[in-house]
Amino acid sequence: MIEMYDFAAFNDDRGSLIAWESNKNIPFEIKRVYCIYGVKDHKRRGLHAHKEGDIILICIKGTCKILINDGVYSTETLLDGANKGLHIPSGRWHEMYDFSQDAILLVLASNQYDEDDYIRDINTFLTDFGHKE
Ligand code: TYD
Repeated sequence: MIEMYDFAAFNDDRGSLIAWESNKNIPFEIKRVYCIYGVKDHKRRGLHAHKEGDIILICIKGTCKILINDGVYSTETLLDGANKGLHIPSGRWHEMYDFSQDAILLVLASNQYDEDDYIRDINTFLTDFGHKE
């Protein structure tokens, strides 16, 4: 199941503010934050799965789409606002694409960067996580 969060914004006559806090509106301790921006036309990012750890994707400006494959089923989700968060647990192949020119994709991660945590080959992913008869 794909979990989408709807973050509450504080809106007033000055504008809007959204806060993300570990173990409050984010269901894990945030260990790392990064953002993806300036994605060139038609380029896809991601194309990997994590062996461990969760991430939450938030498109704080512009729009992009996210494909998630759990080894059997694929879903596509449009991210188009700072109030929307897409939770990707470990063991899900994911791809980010169709970025608008102004898009900034914020990523909150439950673990620190470790290249050994990445599965970057789709066949390895499907062997490890696809349906086994
Ligand atoms: P990459 O995994 O290719 O990005 P994406 O998930 O968008 O496809 O990462 C690009 C580069 O950034 C790569 O050299 C690894 C580095 N990187 C870090 O150093 N720390 C991080 O937290 C992340 C996510 C990437």
